[in-house]
Amino acid sequence: MFTQTSRPAAQEPVRNADGESLAFDGVDLEQLAQRIPTPFHAYSASAIRQRIGSLQAALSGLDATICFAVKANPNLAILQLMANAGVGADIVSVGEMRRSLHAGMPPERIVFSGVGKSADEIAGALTVGIHRFNVESHDELLTLQHLAEAQGVTARAAVRINPDVDAHTHAKISTGKSENKFGVSIDEARRWFAERRRLSHVQLDGLHVHIGSQILTLEPFRLALQRVAEFWRELEQDGHPITSIDVGGGLGVCYRAGVDQPVAAADYVNVIREALADYRGKLLLEPGRYLVAEAGVLLTRVIRVKPGIERQFLVLDAAMNDLQRPSLYDAWHDIVPVSNASRPLTTYDIVGPVCETGDTFARGRELPECAAGDLLLIKATGAYGTSMASTYNSRPLAAEVLLNQGRYALVRRRQHFEEMIAGEQPARHWETA
Ligand code: LLP
Repeated sequence: MFTQTSRPAAQEPVRNADGESLAFDGVDLEQLAQRIPTPFHAYSASAIRQRIGSLQAALSGLDATICFAVKANPNLAILQLMANAGVGADIVSVGEMRRSLHAGMPPERIVFSGVGKSADEIAGALTVGIHRFNVESHDELLTLQHLAEAQGVTARAAVRINPDVDAHTHAKISTGKSENKFGVSIDEARRWFAERRRLSHVQLDGLHVHIGSQILTLEPFRLALQRVAEFWRELEQDGHPITSIDVGGGLGVCYRAGVDQPVAAADYVNVIREALADYRGKLLLEPGRYLVAEAGVLLTRVIRVKPGIERQFLVLDAAMNDLQRPSLYDAWHDIVPVSNASRPLTTYDIVGPVCETGDTFARGRELPECAAGDLLLIKATGAYGTSMASTYNSRPLAAEVLLNQGRYALVRRRQHFEEMIAGEQPARHWETA
């Protein structure tokens, strides 16, 4: 059994033997930050491999392919690591498709999700010959048929079901309720299958469901899969063979030690096994966060401690442009000092330099007293960290480093100023439209 509690050390930063500093995947973080200026993101390759391994082990005996949700972390080095481990890609844009191919992901392991695939994107994915389209509207289905016919190819497609299930997660990352923009109702999907023979260039033989993200209990998965399984049985009886069921992503992780209790991969897969016990086709899974979130940390230094009127502020060199989750979803991320020096606890509002109050990583957080220059770790930033980063306040995109058993490799250098302004120009040439 793979439970969250039985983790080897590589999966999180641990104290060095001298107790002075923290090491992650065998790399001393204080020394690393001497070489790479903060802020920067560091990912543990061992931790990612371990997550892939535990999910693959849980899936053993099933005809299942893991398609990593690229949006969680699209760095080429991460995608290459996924590709080498036999993992495919769940993409939502041609940009993500190009990254995946560039990283060596075979097209037959790429699935394309999303409500707003443009005609150009669909045509591009058809040309490449990706594995499958997860179709989210009738208009998209007809566009797929039209473009596949024009290219003289047959597209494999799954209908994304909106099962109207509450994932009990943050409203902004819930996707499986009928009020959400994602997928179609089972009633509508039934009509698509009834007409499927009219689709000369689309092989509609798959079901897809994704109900939301950072889900910490099994019940929503169980409910959604029960609805999908019921519909699959009905379709089979009506003469519509289903060869692929994509169960989406959404498996939650621990952002707050001692509070968040994620479900174990094996327990999650058991829910899939139970709901689809008599299903013999192919399974697809689209985890993002589960594979990379806890494998990443954001290293940042204290610029200054600012005693405010009501609160004491710890001003970091990382900001909301490097990690949006706290500003956007009021998300909690554990924050710890890298040094272990014994100091009295103090309560801080931990903020970045960006000029808005939303640029706050934590309010009223207790930390050992800090001083300018101290190195801190913001934890579990490997998913939806850099992928949602921006250059707001004209701050360059941060560097990214991959750690692996005592060594490190820079996998994205910090953006240069010239790259940030590339493509911009003074309005010299005025034209009429
Ligand atoms: N499949 C589809 C169709 C998705 O839309 C998503 C995530 C996933 C798979 C992967 O979900 P995961 O396993 O990572 O939960 N920015 C937000 C998360 C947005 C998730 C969007 N869709 C955050 O930082 O919490």
